Amino acid sequence: MPAMNTDALKRQAGEYAANLVESGMIVGLGSGSTAIFATRRIAQRIGSGALTGIVAIPTSLATEAAAIKIGIPLTTLAEHPRIDITVDGADEVDPVFNLIKGGGGAHLREKIVAQATERLVIVADDSKLVDQLGSTWAIPIEVIPFGWEAQAAYLESLGAAPTLRLDGDRPFQTDGGNLILDADFGSIADPAALAHLLESRAGIVEHGLFIGMTRDVIVAGVDGVRHLRR
Ligand code: A5P
Repeated sequence: MPAMNTDALKRQAGEYAANLVESGMIVGLGSGSTAIFATRRIAQRIGSGALTGIVAIPTSLATEAAAIKIGIPLTTLAEHPRIDITVDGADEVDPVFNLIKGGGGAHLREKIVAQATERLVIVADDSKLVDQLGSTWAIPIEVIPFGWEAQAAYLESLGAAPTLRLDGDRPFQTDGGNLILDADFGSIADPAALAHLLESRAGIVEHGLFIGMTRDVIVAGVDGVRHLRR
C-alpha cells in the first residue's frame, strides 16, 4: 500500500479515538505515527472549546514535545496516578488484542502509562492485525547498557534472533538511556509465557509484549474505521 494511503488510515483511526476523549479526563498520549493524529485532534478539540478540563501525560519525550507545541496541558503520574483514557499505537495486534509495541522504542513509558490507565485505546491501520504475534515484527526489548550482550545471548537461548537497534551508526538510545534489542522470535504461540520469561531476566528493563491490556482497538482500512471491542 502506498505510504500516503497508510497515513490517511492512521489519521482516521487516530481521529476516531480522539473523539472518545471527554471533558475533564486525564489523558495518556501515545507515541508513534498513528497516535500523533489522536494527539493533534485532541489539541484541536481543546482549541475549539469542545474539550475542557483536559490534562495529559505523554508516553515519550517526542510526544511531550509535540503536546507542548500544540498546546495540550500536561501533568504527571505523581499528580494524577490514575489516567482515564490513553490512545496509543501498536506494531501488531492479535485476535485477542495482545500487542507488540515499541517500534519507536517508547514501550517502557507506554506500558507504565497503560498500566495506570482505565481504558487503553489502540489505534492502527489494518496492516497491524495478525493471527499470531511475531509474524511480521520482532519484539523490541529494552535492556540496560551494562552487559547487554548477555541479554542478547539469553534471547538466543530462547530461540530468538536479536539485533541491537541502531540510530545511524550508533546504538539507539531510549528515553531512559537504555538500548533496544529487536528479538525476532517468529510467530509466538504463547505470548504470555514468553512475557513471563523475559520479565524474569535481570538486565531486561521491559519488553514490547502488551498482554491483556486493552479492550478497544480502532482499526482503519479501505472500507472505513472499525471499533473492535472485547
Ligand atoms: C512506540 O514505541 C510504539 O510502541 C508505537 O506505538 C508503535 O510502534 C506504533 O507506531 P506507529 O503508529 O508509528 O506504527
